[in-house]
Amino acid sequence: MTAAAFGTSDFIVVANRLPVDVEKAPDGSLTWKESPGGLVTALKPILSARNGAWVGWPGAPDVGDGPIDGQDMLLVPVKLSAQEVQEHYEGFSNGSLWPLYHDVIVKPEYHREWWNTYVEVNRRFAEETAKVAAEGATVWVQDYQLQLVPKMLRMLRPDVKIGFFLHIPFPPVELFMQMPWRREIIEGILGADLVGFHLPGGAQNFLYLASKLAGYPTSKNSIGVRSKFGVVTVGFRSVRVGAFPISIESAELAATAKLPETRQRARALRKELGNPEKILLGVDRLDYTKGIDVRLRAIGELYQEGRLDPERHIFVQLATPSRERVESYKTMRNDIELQVGRINGNFGRVGHPAIHYIHRPVPRRELLAFFAAADVMLVTPLRDGMNLVAKEYIACRNDSSGALVLSEFTGAAAELRQAYQCNPHDLEGVKNAIDEAVHQEPEDGKRRIRAMRRQVLQYDVDRWARSFLQTLAGTVDETRA
Ligand code: ADP
Ligand code: G6P
Repeated sequence: MTAAAFGTSDFIVVANRLPVDVEKAPDGSLTWKESPGGLVTALKPILSARNGAWVGWPGAPDVGDGPIDGQDMLLVPVKLSAQEVQEHYEGFSNGSLWPLYHDVIVKPEYHREWWNTYVEVNRRFAEETAKVAAEGATVWVQDYQLQLVPKMLRMLRPDVKIGFFLHIPFPPVELFMQMPWRREIIEGILGADLVGFHLPGGAQNFLYLASKLAGYPTSKNSIGVRSKFGVVTVGFRSVRVGAFPISIESAELAATAKLPETRQRARALRKELGNPEKILLGVDRLDYTKGIDVRLRAIGELYQEGRLDPERHIFVQLATPSRERVESYKTMRNDIELQVGRINGNFGRVGHPAIHYIHRPVPRRELLAFFAAADVMLVTPLRDGMNLVAKEYIACRNDSSGALVLSEFTGAAAELRQAYQCNPHDLEGVKNAIDEAVHQEPEDGKRRIRAMRRQVLQYDVDRWARSFLQTLAGTVDETRA
């Protein structure tokens, strides 16, 4: 790595994906579409408002020659070969780190070639960032695909301020210790000035590992939410460690859900579904962490036991395709589609399936109409860093009707206390939570949604970004709070 000359961007987000994905037609022409996932949903409005630069992979191999001036941000593509995509993205990021950090729901695989490419691709991201950063810029590195970038960037550009935020859970110490390159990862993250997690538990795990694996002195206080930050002393530097639960553009979503055209579309959806008494809804990337299989099993048994009626209680599952070349995702898709087919075979009739399953991304406006139409939202991950879908549903319930069934194993469960919470490993518990939510007393339901709306509207994504960035800038000192 060689030291780079200064660029012109004062505020830079570095994430594995750009906020738009490129699609390459056979004739070589390129078109762009919105990228999937919660990270992009959360960060796009933040960067647009600050007119910054976004360094990321354009979502296809061998694409990206130089920065593109987007409408409200500079897009800086990092060009990766097909082999780098396979070994960095599909391999180490989604075959090793993702399952390890999500409680080994699927067994992580560790391969030296994957790791070597992970190091190489992280170096490329650091170099591209070093080129565009102005002197003294603020650089915010995102997520598990880029954990080595903070240290690499600091070596290239000691003048910049570096933040790192992990969007997925940081695992328990016993699980993290499996990782063959555990010390390198901890050292990589510690290149940042501020390290953020969704929950205090993750921050605490990280602090412990910084001491155990890298031998750095660490503060001993317990970490709070947006307060009481931990400190790791790395040579002459102090690295702060904190919990910053991410959120959504709540007011904007609430306003869009309230528009006459959204409400009209919600009514039309209900009609298209045959005017059922209750619409149950699931909205996820098709990922094994999301517990889509759990809710399908629960609904199938509830139909079987007559606690739900397939004539009156319809379930809609919207599932965006995700990581389709990774083996565990192919297996899971087959399992889920088999379950959907079985339940419809047992309980549907011609022209009236019990379960509607859409394996395509749904446009944003249409998605909000689904949230507005749904009487019961099912969010049942086996593990999830936050889960923005739960917050999006709450933001869209302008009349305080509806109900949220929420897994205790999501970050959102710490904030949305009035949901019908359940343990996704306890099938009877999940069934009871769904049953209660479907048959709730309207007044009790309103009380619950109102309380959760207050939380979601008050703590929106702008507040999340501000609290992180102000702490990074050193304008908030709560170490002793
Ligand atoms: P993750 O980041 O793991 O995908 P989140 O729930 O935090 O999970 O964020 C998912 C984001 O993707 C949300 O903004 C959600 O609205 C969006 N999304 C999920 N499923 C779909 C879908 N089927 N169609 C369109 N958008 C979706
Ligand atoms: C989660 C991760 C993000 C990722 C997104 C979509 O939100 O935390 O880093 O971008 O899922 O996944 P993908 O593999 O399509 O980028």
